[in-house]
Amino acid sequence: MDKNIVLIGFMGTGKSAIGQRLARKLGLSFVDTDREIEELTGKSIPMLFKNYGEKRFRSEEKLLVARLGKRRNQVIACGGGTVLEPENREILQRNGVLIWVDAEPEDVFRRVRRKRQKRPLLKKGLTLEQVHRMMEKRKPYYEGADFRINTSRSSIEDVVNLIINKLEERSHEDGQS
Ligand code: S3P
Repeated sequence: MDKNIVLIGFMGTGKSAIGQRLARKLGLSFVDTDREIEELTGKSIPMLFKNYGEKRFRSEEKLLVARLGKRRNQVIACGGGTVLEPENREILQRNGVLIWVDAEPEDVFRRVRRKRQKRPLLKKGLTLEQVHRMMEKRKPYYEGADFRINTSRSSIEDVVNLIINKLEERSHEDGQS
């Protein structure tokens, strides 16, 4: 398989940690879109949002996705909002398998609350109810993935193995059709 493996899903579901481990295990290169944007701009995500606004961040994200779409054999961990942009979704889908990394709202809330400062879209005093609502709103964008994996009750290692099994199943099915 030379397609990219693209992890999409809400903040705090574990895309980056899983992507890193998955790439290492499969011997593929790993790109975390947020980290890459930070490298390219020389600014942290919160700084980018604060000084230049979300619009600038989204345009950096779009430029990066356009470049990543030309490469293969990489695991890409997307930011939670990357696939909200139809053009990004289309590019990523063209030569990638999209995996929706999901988790229970309670777990997401617990994880993002600790690192709220790193996520400019999450305001002070964030509640579980707000996280729940945001996740519901984002759902239609993630549902277009090839498959979904829930990270709430499994270790990173188990999730990675599950993804590898699913990918093998899929390539086997493709080979048969
Ligand atoms: C965002 C998610 C963040 C980051 C930015 C916006 C979003 O990435 O791209 O703060 O719109 O959901 P993570 O999903 O890695 O936290």
